[in-house]
Amino acid sequence: MTDMEQDILRPHAETAYADELTALRAADEGVRPGGWLMSPRAVVRYLMGDTLADGTVISPKYFGDRRLIEVAVASLVTDRALLLVGVPGTAKTWVSEHLTAAISGRSTLLVQGTAGMSEDALRYGWNYARLLAEGPSEEALVPSPIMVGMREGKLVRIEELTRIPSDVQDALITVLSEKILPIPELNRETQARRGFNVIATANDRDRGVNELSSALRRRFNTVVMPLPATLEEEVRIVTDRSLAAAARMQLPPVTQDSAAEITRLVTIFRELRSGRTEDGRTQLKSPSSTLSTAEAISVVNQSRALSHHFGSGDIESEYLAASLAGAVIKDPEQDGVVWREYLEVVMRNRKEYVDLYAALRG
Ligand SMILES: Nc1ncnc2c1ncn2[C@@H]1O[C@H](COP(=O)(O)OP(=O)(O)OP(=O)(O)O)[C@@H](O)[C@H]1O
Ligand SMILES: [Mg+2]
Repeated sequence: MTDMEQDILRPHAETAYADELTALRAADEGVRPGGWLMSPRAVVRYLMGDTLADGTVISPKYFGDRRLIEVAVASLVTDRALLLVGVPGTAKTWVSEHLTAAISGRSTLLVQGTAGMSEDALRYGWNYARLLAEGPSEEALVPSPIMVGMREGKLVRIEELTRIPSDVQDALITVLSEKILPIPELNRETQARRGFNVIATANDRDRGVNELSSALRRRFNTVVMPLPATLEEEVRIVTDRSLAAAARMQLPPVTQDSAAEITRLVTIFRELRSGRTEDGRTQLKSPSSTLSTAEAISVVNQSRALSHHFGSGDIESEYLAASLAGAVIKDPEQDGVVWREYLEVVMRNRKEYVDLYAALRG
């Protein structure tokens, strides 16, 4: 990385993991589908992590079921697009960024779905000054990321597909089934090159806002991204991601002590989320907040930043408590009640939570 690149707050996956991608391509003996930079098997290795014959360590990006990633990659080989759905914070965006980086070498062809979006954002727009001066021409046309992906044979990401109004979504039907994008003003069309496909993400909680039309749904293979199955798995994800964030925030690396803190935090998140204690004995109420893995990562980052700058350096219960309450209580009234009940019914009676309980009661 150059000095300039070092200053970038969050480099794209293809930059941050350039070494891994290069090594994987060099070692790749599999067959590459047209327009792909590596074989499907190498893509799965990149996502799940591995050690190559030359000793290069490929770090795991996705923690969870390997089969799920295999299914996602296999879908992209077919002529159907891929739709990743799931509750918030289940790595939908994360996985789609890494898939595009590995397969196309570029994760930046991205359309962010919003409620106010028009078809132009999916097809193309115009540079109005030129359009008025010269009339419709190739030069006056402003291609969407989808059009660029079709021309260059690259994967395109559509974030939050179901936030896009249904009639606008339908502009994708021709693109996905015919692999063409008509430009009637110029009396021509863009034909997709090999390597073009779409990875869309959609949030479960948004479902019903704008359902996918059945015509569009048929053009996607859907992969459901689950919440981490076990406490251990979720602790691993949070530890791994906060380690990476620590480097970015110029914080010291996570220590053994923080590992214990992370386990306590993830336990609290899982219990509140599922509405019962890990031992299954006590029923609990769940707060309105999502309490996703992603939020657990933020709580760890925030308490580490607090401790580093204002405390002793490691995560301290005082600072964990401060970040934790903020994550759980989104609606002061309802969530406040749920949270206090959790403190008194569950936390108070656990030896290993004494200090945290005290800090939370404040
Ligand atoms: N199974 C997992 N493996 C690796 N990282 C994970 C996993 N689950 C969550 N994460 C981490 O959680 C963070 C948030 O993930 P991401 O933004 O991709 O979620 P999302 O599913 O797109 O959520 P939203 O629906 O809110 O957009 C990322 O930093 C990601 O690394
Ligand atoms: Mg997302």
